[in-house]
Amino acid sequence: MEKIIVAIDGYAGTGKSTQAKSLAKHFGCVYVDTGAMYRAVTYFGQLQTTDGSIDIKLLIDSLPQISIYFEHTKNGQQTFLNGENITDLIRQSKVNNKVSDVASVPEIRSFLVDIQRKMGSSKGVVMDGRDIGTIVFPEADYKFFLIASPKIRAQRRYEEQQKAGITETLEEVLTNITARDHQDSTRTFTPLKKAKDAIEIDVSYMSIDDVFNVLIESIVKL
Ligand code: CDP
Repeated sequence: MEKIIVAIDGYAGTGKSTQAKSLAKHFGCVYVDTGAMYRAVTYFGQLQTTDGSIDIKLLIDSLPQISIYFEHTKNGQQTFLNGENITDLIRQSKVNNKVSDVASVPEIRSFLVDIQRKMGSSKGVVMDGRDIGTIVFPEADYKFFLIASPKIRAQRRYEEQQKAGITETLEEVLTNITARDHQDSTRTFTPLKKAKDAIEIDVSYMSIDDVFNVLIESIVKL
């Protein structure tokens, strides 16, 4: 199976990236973490000001100076912004807290969607995000939409962050996840929503392997 397009959308912390990575490996195609791209633009915007706030107008004007790409290393896929490895930097709470504001700006979305459509379109791609099945690749061969209870998502993200040395409390993680879900689903321009033809999977009580098996089985069946 080659040159397939798989779109995995869903709420924050549902494990989209973990599944997308495994699927891409399984099918030997490119994996694109579009959340990392919105995070990279947010991080870039925060470097433009002295207090870490975002000047949206300045950021929009600077988009042509932004180059984002992914590279495979022994530590897994890494995200680069203008040559700098920002993989860990974009997981900080200061980025978590601003990324949905940045992702609500139409000019920024259009800029990134253009890049996303070019990435992997020739080789096949597994892409995860919020608008992949609806906007980036409405013609995707397979579309999935992952959901889970906010508390379970927060707990999983909290444990992940603890391992990575990020010191947010469980309450802070839950607050951020809930706020981003709300902002992502209610923004005017291309909000987070399930594509009509996407398969919805509630991953609340499923292990990573369980979810992967359901995805693979669905792909084989379709
Ligand atoms: O990993 P997590 O689910 O926490 O988030 P992410 O996938 O890294 O995405 C971070 C943020 O980027 C989301 O909360 C959205 O605001 C934005 N995003 C988006 O608007 N569209 C996408 N295709 C991907 C991410």
